[in-house]
Amino acid sequence: MEKIVIKGGQPLRGEVQVSGAKNSALPLLFATLLADGVSEISNVPALRDINTAVRLLRELGAEVDVSGDRCVINGSKIRSIEAPYDLVKTMRASVLVLGPLLARFGHARVSLPGGCAIGARPINLHLKGLEALGATITLDHGYVEATADKLRGAKISFDLPTVGGTENLLMAAALAEGETVLENAAREPEIVQLADALNSMGAMIEGAGTAIIKIQGVDKLEPLKCSVIPDRIEAGTFMIAAVITSGDVLVHGAVSADQEALISKLIEVGATITPEADGLRVVGPKKMQPVDIRTSVFPGFPTDMQAQFMALMTRAEGTSRISETVFENRFMHVCELQRMGADIQIDGHSAIIRGTKQMTGAPVMATDLRASASLIIAGLAAENTTEVSRIYHLDRGYEKIEKKLAALGAKIWREEE
Ligand code: EPZ
Repeated sequence: MEKIVIKGGQPLRGEVQVSGAKNSALPLLFATLLADGVSEISNVPALRDINTAVRLLRELGAEVDVSGDRCVINGSKIRSIEAPYDLVKTMRASVLVLGPLLARFGHARVSLPGGCAIGARPINLHLKGLEALGATITLDHGYVEATADKLRGAKISFDLPTVGGTENLLMAAALAEGETVLENAAREPEIVQLADALNSMGAMIEGAGTAIIKIQGVDKLEPLKCSVIPDRIEAGTFMIAAVITSGDVLVHGAVSADQEALISKLIEVGATITPEADGLRVVGPKKMQPVDIRTSVFPGFPTDMQAQFMALMTRAEGTSRISETVFENRFMHVCELQRMGADIQIDGHSAIIRGTKQMTGAPVMATDLRASASLIIAGLAAENTTEVSRIYHLDRGYEKIEKKLAALGAKIWREEE
């Protein structure tokens, strides 16, 4: 197993390019199952989760060729409609094959993903939506079996704005008969890119990015050709790294419209953030102010930035409160940060962080993707050496993060445990 070693205390300086968005590339890859023909997606990040998605597409019979950041997918020879447990348990986003397979073939058999480190993460809202479109859903031996002669448009109101649920229903409704209306839909930029991509394939979708999305079903979709939008969570992670090290970094690919909640909080902390070239220039202050955050769905403060922001608050001059409202168990990074000297108390869904002068490096363990990023960020600013183990979590969602940080002046490298 590999670990990442960091000698903290270097202010980050220079420019960094974020990669394509993992949480956009995944639904786009599965959307190619809707078309009989050859699709091409560029700016695909080199991540473990992308490799898993490619394995699943091949398992279903698609021919997939990956060269650099370009994926070419031939969806004309799909021979299976089953997403097996070993792949779905590796990456729960595999459930996004449900909508496309059901819409194109009238049948899908997908393993229930099971829980993960950050929460139970059920897919009840996905299934309820697909049933509203006329699918028959049965659960057997840990698998969801979905069948439908023909999906018919319906009005679907989500109990909560589920990202994956909105994506599955967008893809299913694109080939349903008649109009589908999604109410209380998720509004993330990745939803907007998926809707744009489906429209470029011939779908008729309007309202993506708002809570009400209307889809007029069509008979057939053409193959997809698109480029993945930049990863706003990777961008936000580098922005926080610049702030915690009192650095000065131009983050190429950071889009202010996608980061407004994070930007306003980092400015409260004392950072200066200015749009420059094709990104955002972030200058970190010498003294960081404590700032409370409460995660929520887009455009609120992203839950995927909560762990990274908590690492930053360990250096603030005062007490801050972080409330996690999206997932029920997304504080796994707290006890690892405490090993580095952080003063954090958990109170239900909130954490109270009392900033300290400087944390001390320590051997720590990654537990999930964004917790890993939080430990890297803490290590960048900590005294001495931090060693982060189980970094396979990190490699799920960050492409060569240690190389990008080293290019900004960080003393960081990867080595065998
Ligand atoms: C997506 O997960 C992202 N993953 C997550 O990013 C992100 O944290 C999350 O959206 C929220 O923004 C991908 O896009 C691949 P949800 P998803 O459905 O779709 C509950 C990362 O770090 N819920 O919006 O699974 C659920 O339990 C990952 O990159 C139901 O109850 O998120 C959770 O509490 C982590 N029933 C909340 O809604 C359902 O049917 C949000 O889930 C579906 C969801």
